[in-house]
Order: sequence, then structure tokens, then C-alpha cells
Amino acid sequence: MTRTPRKILVTNALPYANGPIHIGHMLGYIQADIWVRFQKMRGHECHYVCADDAHGTPIMLKAQQLGIEPEQMIADMNRAHQADFSDFNVAFDHYYSTHSPENRELAELIYTRLRDAGHIKTKTISQLYDPDKEMFLPDRFVKGECPKCGAADQYGDNCDVCGATYAPTELKNPTSAVSGATPELRDSEHYFFDLPAFEDMLKAWTRSGSLQEEMANKLNEWFEAGLQRWDISRDAPYFGFEIPDAPGKYFYVWLDAPIGYMSSFKNYCETTGHADFESYWQPDSDAEVYHFIGKDIIYFHSLFWPAMLQGADFRQPTNVWAHGFITVNGTKMSKSKGTFIMARTYLDHLDPDYLRYYFAAKLTSRIDDLDLNLTDFAQRVNSDLVGKVVNIASRCAGFIQKKFDGKLKAELNETALLEEFQAAGDSIAEAFEKREFSRAMRDIMALADKANFYIAEEEPWQLIKDPANAERVHEICSIGINLFRLLMIYLTPVVPDLAQRVQAFLQEEFTWESHRTLLKNHAIEPFKALLQRIDMEHVNKMIDASKEANAAAQTTAAPTTANDELKKEPIAAEINFDDFAKVDLRVALIANAEHVEGADKLLKLTLDLGGETRQVFAGIKSAYDPATLIGQHTVMVANLAPRKMRFGMSEGMVLAAGPGGKDIFILNPHDGALPGMRVS
Ligand code: MSP
Ligand code: ZN
Repeated sequence: MTRTPRKILVTNALPYANGPIHIGHMLGYIQADIWVRFQKMRGHECHYVCADDAHGTPIMLKAQQLGIEPEQMIADMNRAHQADFSDFNVAFDHYYSTHSPENRELAELIYTRLRDAGHIKTKTISQLYDPDKEMFLPDRFVKGECPKCGAADQYGDNCDVCGATYAPTELKNPTSAVSGATPELRDSEHYFFDLPAFEDMLKAWTRSGSLQEEMANKLNEWFEAGLQRWDISRDAPYFGFEIPDAPGKYFYVWLDAPIGYMSSFKNYCETTGHADFESYWQPDSDAEVYHFIGKDIIYFHSLFWPAMLQGADFRQPTNVWAHGFITVNGTKMSKSKGTFIMARTYLDHLDPDYLRYYFAAKLTSRIDDLDLNLTDFAQRVNSDLVGKVVNIASRCAGFIQKKFDGKLKAELNETALLEEFQAAGDSIAEAFEKREFSRAMRDIMALADKANFYIAEEEPWQLIKDPANAERVHEICSIGINLFRLLMIYLTPVVPDLAQRVQAFLQEEFTWESHRTLLKNHAIEPFKALLQRIDMEHVNKMIDASKEANAAAQTTAAPTTANDELKKEPIAAEINFDDFAKVDLRVALIANAEHVEGADKLLKLTLDLGGETRQVFAGIKSAYDPATLIGQHTVMVANLAPRKMRFGMSEGMVLAAGPGGKDIFILNPHDGALPGMRVS
């Protein structure tokens, strides 16, 4: 087949650098990876890039809480994210960070072009300000009572109880979730992107017929509600890029995040020479650009992003493809049920191909949510991949090996079924192309049923009993192996590890075009088990491990009532006495306590163990005046590995309870306990 290779750039939404990848995230990455692998197998020039989204207030605060520099935290997280993706066989050609020189340069360039074209406006707005922390508070860092229904403990933008949306300034009795302080209103000048100026172009795009139907409907709702100018600046302190002509003002994280698609690709082009950046991003580019995203971030990708690109003289995306959200066992992923499953926890227990297949079997081109029902997951994978596909090979390979020298027959006479399987390639390809993966999987499994039916009818294991049938058995089994091979070619983008083992077994490398030929007079390797069935025990172990991991993770939520504590953090998995005995808890006298220059959360404690002293940095500044601590007894973990922090070594930790802010409570032993006594 002669076709001109297409030039395609594919991106996935950039995960935030303040937390690990979970299986909900994996849906979009697996979806795009399957599509990219398919395009590459077809011989197209397809580049697949991603990056960590490293800026913003939550990332700044999280690093402070950990007592490390944000640069350190995002570097650690970047490594962890890349390991998760790579172990799930999500094969990015490049993985970068939005905190990069290329991204700064491109963000400045795009901003400057927008400004020079008159698309940036300024306006002074009033916002809630945390006087203790000396920072403006993003909506989700303000808590208070809902102005509509009075429910306590609601975030600054909407109420979980009655669903009302409002401005954070409308909350009753607001408190800062960062410090617990009462916020005050302050004025600040903000920079705005003039989105309404792009309404005509966005409407034309919506009408072009190329968008997903649900996305076009959403956009139309937003047009009806009226487009607003978009606030793209944030005041210091902020972890991000300073706006070139506005000292103390930073680009809002969502301004430079999608630019991260371009800057990751730019760094890839410059470091590998595999593609030419300009030819992909210039306005008249003949390349295709696709963004795979989740449904929660459509607004940013289908309104702001195309408008920014247009206003700054770059090409627009060919398309933005949104997917729905994952539920597990029919409900939102839940920490207490153990269904908030981290990518790493999954990988510790199960083969990535299982989840990739299950997602593929349920994914369509629409924006529907997708339920990962764990029982159905195990049954589906076992019955389809193991019971149907791999079974074909295991029924035929032994005879080829033992009776025919490991070689497939040179001439195949009964070609009808083979031709049917080959002919299906084009419509399966079309389904992949259109992201109708579930249709592709259905078609492949229907063919697998036919192959199994064929072998069951022919009964080679009966025929072989009579040596006169040898030729016939050779034919049936060679056909069987070829049928299996065709199905595996089609499944290669979905289950790359399995496909790798199959290619080793067949002594062949697959491209999509391989399906137009058959294997004849071809030596294959002895058959080894290609895929294990999913054992529900492994699934259950994964759930238990998720429960444990989530119980161990520290919560940093704002104050709640004591009654919620067990719900928020269920009792951790049982341990035995030996586990407990490893922790050496000691009574310690707080010999000194002082503030630490430059640290927002930490106090430096000198702890006397009755002979030895230890220096410990404790995140209790928001709750304690150091002077009141000196002379008190408390309890410390004395054998914790020392940890290097920005301000020095921390040689242990003091025990404390509570969610944070003013609500942190350190432990006091009863009178009489002496420094150095072991707590057991
Ligand atoms: N950093 C932004 C994206 C910036 S893109 C320029 C972000 N990050 S995220 O870490 O919150 O999410 C990354 C991707 O995972 C998004 O596409 C998001 O929709 C998706 N998902 C997060 N949770 C998900 C599920 N439970 N189910 C399916 N996808 C989910 O948003
Ligand atoms: Zn309410």
C-alpha cells in the first residue's frame, strides 16, 4: 500500500507535579498511547510528548509542607511519573516539565505577541488575602460556611452540600485553609486575556463538525452564557514564571501549562533532531496536532488554548479529544474502599496489559465515564485474552513443534477463514483511527471465536492419532497459528508486552501491513505460556495495599469535627508486635525551640534524651509559639533515619495529631516520665 506518511503530534494532558499517578489518570494516557502505537505501526511519522505540569499554588505549598524546594519536589515527582508511565508501556517519545527554559521562552513569546496585538487587558480586583501567610488565596484554599445553605467547611467556589456556586468573598466566617487565619479583602491589579475577541473563530471551529458532539454542545452552552475575559496573572508568592513586564506578577499555571505541549516538543526536536518544531507549529503547518484530555479540562483546551494560539500566530490543534472519568466498582474512586489505586500499586500486583486491554474494550470516541468493575475486569481479560486469543496458539503450537519440526506448512489450501481475518484489518484499522477501540476489540474477539470454533470442529488432537492425517493436521495447526498471528497484529497497540512475547514466539516483527501476508514454511519457537490468567487474589491484594497506602498518607485538610476522623483516615492495616517494636519512641525534653529563618511551617527543636540531644525540624509553627514549648516533655521517634532539609539535618520527629493550621497537638507524657525513657 502506498500512502504518504502523515505528520502527527500527539499530546496527553500534563499531570500535576504534586501527587502520584493513579489509575484514573491512566485512562487518558493508555488511550492516547494505543492510538499512537497504531499510527506508528501504520508507518506514519507520529511524535508523542508529555510533561509534568509543575507550577501553581498547590505545588508551592506542598513543597513548603515537605520542607524542600519546589524544584526538588518536581524533579522527584517527574522521575516517579516517568517510571509509572514507562512501566505501563505508555511510550512517550519525550517527557519534560513546564518548569523549563523552553517553556519560559515560549510563554513569554506568546504573552508578548498577545499583548502587542491588544489582547491583554488589566483590571484591579479585590481578593481574599491571608495576612499570616502574606499571600492571596486561591478559591480552594478558603473555607467557610456556604452562603446559601449554611453548611460548614465548604470551599471558596462551590458547596458540596447544596451545590451552590459563589465567589469566595461570599462565604460566611471564612478561614484560610493554609494558615487558619481570617482572610481579608485586598486589591491587586490583574492581567486578563481577552477571550471574547476570539468568539467568531471559536464558533467557526465548533461548527466545523470535527469536534466530538458532546464537546461542541458544551462549547455552545458556554457561548450562550457569554465568554469572559480570563485572569492570567497571580501575585507573588507564586511558583511559576514572572510576567516579563510586570514584576511581582506571575503567569497563572493554566497559562503556561498547555504551552508545555509545545515546549516539550521543542526540547525533543532540539535534543533528538527527530522533527522540525516550526513545521509543526507554524500557522500553515501540514502536520496534525491532537490533544488527548479528560472531560474536566475541556474549557482550557477548547476555548483558551486555540484562542491563545491564534492570537499569537501559531497554528491551532487539529482536534482536542476528551475522555470521561474512571469509576471503580460503580462509584468514584474511594480511599477507604481501597479503590483509589495508584499506578504503582497496580503495577506491584498486576500486568499492565490487563488494564490496557480492559480500557480498550470499553473505550469509545465519546466522553462517557468508564467503570472499572474489578470482577468484570478479571473475567473479561481471562475470557478474551487468555481463553480466546492465546488459547488458539496453545492448541496448535504443540503439534507444530512435536510433529512438524517447529515449522509451519509451506502451502495452505483452505484459505477462506484466513482471508476473512485479513480482510477485517481495514475496518479494525478504521475503528482504531476513530478511537472506537471497543468496536475494534469486539471485532477481534468475534474473529477469535471463529478461530476457536474452527479448531474445535477440526479436532486435530483426534486426527493426529492416525499417521495418515499428518498433512491435514499440519494444515489445520498452521492455519490456527496464522489466525492467532493476525489477531495479535491487530492487538499489538493495545497489549505491547504480550505482543512482544508473541513476536518472539513467531520469530517475526509486526507492522500493521504484516496482516496482508501469511506465515508459510516458517519456523516458530517452542510455545511457552504467553499470558497468565488474572487471579482475583492479586486483585484483592492490590485493594488491600491501596487501603494501607492511603491510610498511611498524611492528611492536610482544614479543621473538621472529631467525629469525622475515622472516616477521613480509617485505622491502618493490622501489624504485628515486631513491626511496632521497630519504632523506638522516647520521652524527650524540649530543651530549646526557635523559629527558622525562611521557613513558613517549621520550628527547630532541640530535644534532650537524657544524655544525647537531637535537632528536629517540626511542622508545628502554625500552632505553637516556641517560647511556650521550652521545658515541656514530649514523645519523639528516636530511630528515624536523619533527613536533610533545606535548613539542616532533622534527626527524628515529634509525634503530633491534628489536621494542620492552628489544630496541631503534640503529645505530653504524664508527670514523672524522664527524658530517654522508652515508650512501649
Ligand atoms: N495539570 C492539568 C492538565 C494540564 S494540561 C495542559 C491536570 N492535571 S491532573 O493531574 O489533574 O490530570 C491529568 C489528566 O488526568 C487530565 O486529563 C484529567 O482529566 C485526567 N484524570 C484525572 N482523574 C481522572 C479520572 N478519575 N478518570 C479519568 N481521567 C482522569 O488536569
Ligand atoms: Zn450549600
